[in-house]
Amino acid sequence: MSPGLAPGPENPHGDGLPPMKKRIAFVGTGGRALSFIEPVVTTYRATNELVGLCDLSPARMAYYNGLLAGELGYHAVPAYPADRFDEMLRKEKPDTVFVCTKDSTHHDYIVRALEAGCDVITEKPMTTDAAKCRAILDAQRATGRRVRVAFNYRWAPFRTKVKELIANGAIGRIRSVNLEYLLDTNHGADYFRRWHAQAAESGTLLVHKSTHHFDLVNWWLDAIPAQVFAYGDLVFYGKKNAEARGDGALTKYPRYTGEPAAKGDPFRLDLDESASFRGLYRAAEADSGYLRDRNVFRDGIDIHDQMSLNVRYRTGEVLTYSLVCYSPREGMRVTFNGDRGRIEYHEFIGSHMNRAVREKDFKIEEKPGSEAEGEWIKVYPHFQTGYTVPMPPVAGAHGGADEILNRSFYAPDAPATDQWGRFAGHEQGAASILVGIAGVESIKRNQPVNLTDLVPLRPEARHLSELV
Ligand SMILES: NC(=O)c1ccc[n+]([C@@H]2O[C@H](COP(=O)([O-])OP(=O)(O)OC[C@H]3O[C@@H](n4cnc5c(N)ncnc54)[C@H](O)[C@@H]3O)[C@@H](O)[C@H]2O)c1
Repeated sequence: MSPGLAPGPENPHGDGLPPMKKRIAFVGTGGRALSFIEPVVTTYRATNELVGLCDLSPARMAYYNGLLAGELGYHAVPAYPADRFDEMLRKEKPDTVFVCTKDSTHHDYIVRALEAGCDVITEKPMTTDAAKCRAILDAQRATGRRVRVAFNYRWAPFRTKVKELIANGAIGRIRSVNLEYLLDTNHGADYFRRWHAQAAESGTLLVHKSTHHFDLVNWWLDAIPAQVFAYGDLVFYGKKNAEARGDGALTKYPRYTGEPAAKGDPFRLDLDESASFRGLYRAAEADSGYLRDRNVFRDGIDIHDQMSLNVRYRTGEVLTYSLVCYSPREGMRVTFNGDRGRIEYHEFIGSHMNRAVREKDFKIEEKPGSEAEGEWIKVYPHFQTGYTVPMPPVAGAHGGADEILNRSFYAPDAPATDQWGRFAGHEQGAASILVGIAGVESIKRNQPVNLTDLVPLRPEARHLSELV
């Protein structure tokens, strides 16, 4: 911990003692990091200190430092290029390193931060393959430091309500679950514009995206996944698919920004349209080579846009899951079959594309394709009339989840345990990604895959809550 500030406006308790501020460094300053940096330097600045940024792109870090010194009312912080990450740890001595880089690099920063004696919070997915997962578990075991995975889905009030209903036995013991997730032609397409479209970088969407969904089911059921069988195909995005359905005209340019021919293209993303996009991505193209707006109908995409799988849990439940990435609607439909009834949970809330873009800049949100219907939970007990579960209105990013999650990360009085078990550590992070990793393996082999063959995650444990 740092010595903190002298008593004053930033030491509201007025006890005369300087507050011990938690020192936090970020690696990965792309679109998502702002959701976690902003609260550190605003709401929670009395007890937290942003001590450093690290990224491949100096221009992206400069964009963040501009925000920090400008509209966020903080100050610029030391910015370290990616090859000086260890130096950042040595010089800035963070207590916690927050990992927000591209998925395939998470493990490297998690392991190095742990070995330097830091705690880690990592964005989902914890990592992208079994070997990297084992490296994280080994480093955690060797160092004893804490790893948390930012599974914001768990923290959305509606989803917590589902957990509460199941835990309270509203429909008895759950025997099977169906989860259908739809990504629309707006949000879903966005994964095909950039690094996510390469399996080596995202682990495919069965890891990058579905990790949220697999984590939800693990947590809702308090169950540990055991075996997976999956199918996956690329049927919509990519050049060949567009040409085959007569959309060849949409394949004619490599990217959208500055392309007159793309004017009427519904898949177009123009980075020049938003000041944030210009600062964060356009200005950083030269130093990072990262193109944020590549044509979704190009060659070389090697992930699936349609996936379906079955999961069997150690306690016998079965999940039937599907993800489609080219839907006119965005949201999910989950049904739970219990031995005393059924719960149906729907959320069609429109898409939320994360990046360092403020609400006012969310132009893409206004495009068609994200019909919001809201969320509802219905319970159908056996032999009784069904009912809709009343819920208070929620506001904020990701259905109010980000705000509650940030409080759990940064508030000095945040409880150490959570009534609904929403804290997810490295083992629970692993239990989620392993479903996707096994799914990818199953698609390759056309066979069911046992998760313990990939990573032997506490073979004696039966319930998710037994895992850290
Ligand atoms: N929970 C959520 O709802 C949610 C939403 C969006 C993103 N995310 C996660 O946040 C992370 C970042 O996503 P994003 O949307 O900000 O992506 P992004 O592409 O906008 O940013 C990624 C950043 O990582 C940097 N980077 C890449 N390789 C690096 C390396 N080797 N070393 C250092 N920096 C490197 C890039 O330069 C870029 O600044 C991802 O893991 C993603 O899964 C989570």
